Amino acid sequence: MEEGKLSKIISLCKRRGFVFGGSEIYGGLSSIWDYGPLGAALKRRIKNLWWREYVEKREDIVGIDSAIIMHRNVFVASGHLEGFVDCLVECSKCKKRFRVDKIRKIKENIYECPVCKVNIDGNINKPRKFNLMLKTNLSAVEEEPVYAYLRPETAQGIFTNFLNIVNTTHKKLPFGIAQVGKAFRNEVTTGNFIFRMKEFEQMEIEYFVSPEEADDYYHYWVEERFSFYVDKVGIRRENLRIREHTKEELAHYARCCSDVEYNFPFGWSELEGIANRGEYDLKRHSQVSKKDLVFFDDKTKRKFIPYVIEPSAGVDRTFFACLCDAYCEEEVKGRKRVVLKLKPDLSPYRVAVFPLLKSNSQLGELARNIFLDIKNKMPSYYDDTAAIGKLYRRQDEIGTPFCITVDLQSLQDRKVTIRDRDSMHQERISIDKIDEFIEDRVGRVCFC
Ligand code: GAP
Repeated sequence: MEEGKLSKIISLCKRRGFVFGGSEIYGGLSSIWDYGPLGAALKRRIKNLWWREYVEKREDIVGIDSAIIMHRNVFVASGHLEGFVDCLVECSKCKKRFRVDKIRKIKENIYECPVCKVNIDGNINKPRKFNLMLKTNLSAVEEEPVYAYLRPETAQGIFTNFLNIVNTTHKKLPFGIAQVGKAFRNEVTTGNFIFRMKEFEQMEIEYFVSPEEADDYYHYWVEERFSFYVDKVGIRRENLRIREHTKEELAHYARCCSDVEYNFPFGWSELEGIANRGEYDLKRHSQVSKKDLVFFDDKTKRKFIPYVIEPSAGVDRTFFACLCDAYCEEEVKGRKRVVLKLKPDLSPYRVAVFPLLKSNSQLGELARNIFLDIKNKMPSYYDDTAAIGKLYRRQDEIGTPFCITVDLQSLQDRKVTIRDRDSMHQERISIDKIDEFIEDRVGRVCFC
């Protein structure tokens, strides 16, 4: 049934314009996706919500926007050129490659192919390491390439700007630097829609602390980020859990790490990782760049390299979890209704406006005027291209919390019918009370 849910969500995404295959008209590219009008809106709301909570509302975190293309030495220092590898084994039967740490190990060096279920003998088909970094050439002369890399995490732009930020903001510990942006990984194992992409977006905070406080802040961020998904994004608590990494799973830079996982239709999987990266990154960048990244702590009058706690979230995975969590099928008067019960703050549109009768020009004009007025105040949509039942169904499917219908009576009494997405309850309200009504129920809109 959950498998079925995944295909329904993928189909809804395509049908309504949330997500399309990348370069689709040329046959597509594996694990590369484009966001359509509704997807772009939902994604922007997720990023803005995060930015508002962690950069705008807090005094201890500043935001940056660093370049995607970075110097090769950044990744020599960070360890990505050497250590950012997937160990893959190929199945002799289906010729597909799998990460050895993600498939069933039957015994030493013998694995089970998750597709055709035959044994993969790692003594014959030896697991091979693949670096996930994407390389580009910055030289104008083909014979003299100057290689640079697309960042595999936004974090490195934060570490390389650490001195700039300390010198320009004069922040004292503890403080954070946040960034939202694209990251690139040449993922070899793919599938599960937008879960693992080659081009994706991250929302990362590098939170710098004294070594003595690192443990406390690590626990603080694990809790804080879990609550964010429940309270701000509106994901059901029972579909979220925290899972601590085993020693074997830890990334090369991490001292400890916990994932916030979501119960996707294909099982519990990572939404976000919260890691204690210790002094690893700043120390390595100090060594390789020969710049002194030591911090002078006013409070204790000590000089040291701060530790860093990193809550690292995926925009696309949050988007995906929102859709999975919000997707509902209900039976209404013997018919199936598909509804996306998104948190109203995240819905692509907050309200949709329809005239009951398209043929009546006075009605159309009133409905358009209501829409044009409300559009200045909240994300809204106007539709007169189908019968009212169909218009409601379209908006339910894309998660619009309110629909307003303008009917003949509206011309007389200046009232409209407003329908609630979740309860389907309908009420008549005065046209000049529309924003107040919506604000009372779902709060003020934060335009983004
Ligand atoms: N800076 C730490 C870091 O990048 P990560 O666990 O590799 O850690 C953090 O990535 C988050 O970025 C993940 O929890 C996930 O949400 C997202 N992410 C990572 N790889 C991704 C991919 N290939 N496609 C989509 N999202 C990805």
